[in-house]
This record gives sequence, C-alpha cells and structure tokens, in this order.
Amino acid sequence: MQKFKLFVIVTFLLIKSIPLTAQSMAKLIDQQMKLANEQYKILAKNVPNDRMPKYLKDNIVQTSDTKWWCSGFFPGSLIYLYEYTKDQDIKKEIDKRLKLLEPEKHFKGNHDLGFMMYCSFGNAYRVFKDPKYKFTIDTAAMSLATRYNKDLKVIKSWEGGKLYKFPVIIDNMMNLELLLWAAEHGGNPYLKEIALEHTESTIKNHYRPDFSSYHVVDYNPNDGSIIKKVTHQGFSDESAWARGNAWGFYGFVTMYRFTKNKRYLDLALKMGDFMLNHKNLPKDKIPYWDFDSKDIPNTYRDASAGAIIASALLELGQYVNAQERKKYVKTAETIIRNLSSPAYFAQSGSNGGFLLMHSVGSLPHNSEVDSPLTYADYYYLEAMHRYRNWYL
Ligand code: GLY
Repeated sequence: MQKFKLFVIVTFLLIKSIPLTAQSMAKLIDQQMKLANEQYKILAKNVPNDRMPKYLKDNIVQTSDTKWWCSGFFPGSLIYLYEYTKDQDIKKEIDKRLKLLEPEKHFKGNHDLGFMMYCSFGNAYRVFKDPKYKFTIDTAAMSLATRYNKDLKVIKSWEGGKLYKFPVIIDNMMNLELLLWAAEHGGNPYLKEIALEHTESTIKNHYRPDFSSYHVVDYNPNDGSIIKKVTHQGFSDESAWARGNAWGFYGFVTMYRFTKNKRYLDLALKMGDFMLNHKNLPKDKIPYWDFDSKDIPNTYRDASAGAIIASALLELGQYVNAQERKKYVKTAETIIRNLSSPAYFAQSGSNGGFLLMHSVGSLPHNSEVDSPLTYADYYYLEAMHRYRNWYL
C-alpha cells in the first residue's frame, strides 16, 4: 500500500513537472523512434547489400540501384534513428549504405543529387563530423552545379527525352540545400549564387497567384522562353499536386534558413497557407495525392506529402512569432500523431519493414500507388527529430 501511494505521488509530480502536450509528444516520439528502429532492421534484411529500398509491391520490398533519386533516404533515416537509439546494428547499416552510395557524388544525370547526397551525407556529417563526409557533400554540390544554365538561370531537372526540352520541376527546390550548405561551409560562393538564381526563376515561373505550384516548367534553351507549364505526376496541368506543393513549401523554408531573405519566408507562409486552408485538405491533415483530384474523397492519400509538410512546418515555427508558431507546430503535431496511428504507421513486422503506409509515387504512371516510400519515412523521422529538438 505504502509503495502504491509513493508510486501515485511520484507519477503525479512527474506529470505536474512537464506540460501535458509536451509530455505526451515526448512519449509518442520515444515510442515511435524505438518501433521504427526495430522495423528498419527488418527493412535492412529485406534489401540486398548492393541495393537501396524503394517501395513495396505484392508485399515484397522493391529495390533500386544508387542512381535512383531516392537512394539517400534510407541512409538518412538510419542516421535519424541512430541519433536517437545509438543502436550499433543501425550504425553498421549506416556505414554499409553510405559506402555504397558515396561514388554517386560524381553523378550528373539529373538534379536529384541534393536528395541523394544531402539527406544521407549531410546528416552523416552533422552527426559524425567525419571530414570524408564533407568532401563527399562538396563534390556532389559541384556535380549538381554542372546542370545550371546561366542563360536560363535554372538548374535542369531531368534530361528531356521526347517530352521536354529543358524541364525544371518544383521538386528541384529541395536540391538547393546541398548547394547552400556547401557554399556556407567553405565551398565555392558560386554554389549559393546559382541556388539564388534558380529560386528567383522558380518564383517567377512556377507559382500561380494562389501560391500553388506548377509541377514542370519546360524552358526553350535557345531563347529562354517557356514552352509549357504542365504536370508529370499530378492530376492535371493546372492542378496542385500535393507532393510538389509540399516540396516547394519545404524548399522556401530552407531558403529562408540560409539567406534570411524575408521574401522567401513570406512566400513560404503563403504556400503553407494554400495547403493548410485548402478545402480538400482532410481533417487529419494528410493530403490526397493531388489537391484537385476529381475523385476526392474516393482517392488516395499521400503520407509522404503529409510528412514533408509536417517537417517544414516545424522549421517554419522557428522563424515566426509565438502565436503563429503555436498554430504551425500544432498542425505539425496533428500530422505526426496521425502518421503514428494505425491508419498510417505499419504494425511491427509488416509493410516489408517500411514505417508508413499509404503514399503515392506517381498515379498517372500507375507507379508506387498507395505504397510505403522511403521518403515518407525519412521526412516522418525528420519531423519527429525536429519536434524533439525544438519543441520538447
Ligand atoms: N521528386 C520526385 C517525386 O517527388 O516524386
């Protein structure tokens, strides 16, 4: 009885000493990080040593080589997990996957070097401070810079093929972090200059008056004119593809971090408001794959877009006043809580070892539809990492 009384008193004091919301998010994040750590050991076992995880099809983990744009997310997620759990098996997995990815620092085949090399080696350098990781980041930044066109003032996203001449996609805003970080850490100042030029072109050509974004802008490399503004992965050319809008939003928050240019912050706020106030954003704040899909509500959610938005909102919360911060952090909290619920977070041992269910790679291509995806997991873990660092 005495022991029970003591237990009640200690519990009461503990609860009193921590604000209720902070306490429950702390618990939730602790629980999710530990579950994710074990789940990613399962995922690691499902991926051959010379491959990276991609998505799940017929309950089998599909993999890619390291040239696939997502090859940096698995090592990056492992690093977020290791940072929290200090699990040595996860550390071994990090070393193995970084070694596999490292040669891609010379890859110049598309704009995705930022995703590939910064989400992985950027985090690796942040956590382990090994100079060889910084060399990899610097080299990758120079490789990405080769895709900049000084007349058009943009970085070319993809090789055009039959569809496009000089395509630039909104996702490219995510790859500028690699350039800005390298420039800020002793790299060539040119890397920052081209990131700024690319951002200005994006503001001018990618955004609509309501602060939603086109997916692809195809430039004419001969005279700089715009051939077309279309979608590749969205519902229609004029629609707001959820992940693309999430990428742009996150990208402008990042631009503000490096430049402190108030214009970028104002734009990010408007892009965020476009999504958060959208009539088609569901109550749980996990968007449908496209805000304008004609099939809403009978269509797919995109958990990856939700995770990206949550992570960006948490950084945005660092740059606004207390009242706005409360609003943005609360929304991010709602997203994290919902992604952590059984509606999205897979049962331990299921989902091939991926964390989240229900993302959409590309519905128009019938590719990776209603599937787990490495980047949904990555930004979910990043959001929890940010919440824990900044708001607990
Ligand atoms: N960057 C490609 C995608 O978001 O699907």
